Amino acid sequence: AAATRYEAESATISQGVVESNHTGFSGTGFVNYDNVVGSSVQWSVTAAAAGAATIVLRYANGTTTNRPMDIAVNGTVVAAATAFGSTTNWDTWQSKTITATLNAGTNTIRATATTANGGPNVDWLSVDAGTTPPTGPA
Ligand code: GCU
Repeated sequence: AAATRYEAESATISQGVVESNHTGFSGTGFVNYDNVVGSSVQWSVTAAAAGAATIVLRYANGTTTNRPMDIAVNGTVVAAATAFGSTTNWDTWQSKTITATLNAGTNTIRATATTANGGPNVDWLSVDAGTTPPTGPA
């Protein structure tokens, strides 16, 4: 199935700000996480059917230090301290992919910084909620 992109600047931000002072983002900006443990962005995403989904998070980390985040789906951490390593500079974005099980309908996906450096800058999250069943012969 096609992935749906959800911009970080349109999500629910706790301890972070929307900025646009680096290049290469999509939409109108990205989220600069506050440099604290617990800063987070939470997206509300939709899945047509329950099941495994591929979740991609687009981020930049211009430091040389990993900025791990816990990824929670519907309130449960499914990928603890996921690494968001250096992308060389703040204008260079990379994708981090995880897989998780979603419910049919609305789900929350939250990315929460686990170190005092906070999270990386985050541009967007995308969700590909699995494959579309083939259409049978008419
Ligand atoms: C710099 C950079 C920000 C980044 C911040 C950080 O200030 O310009 O985009 O968020 O470092 O270390 O988190």
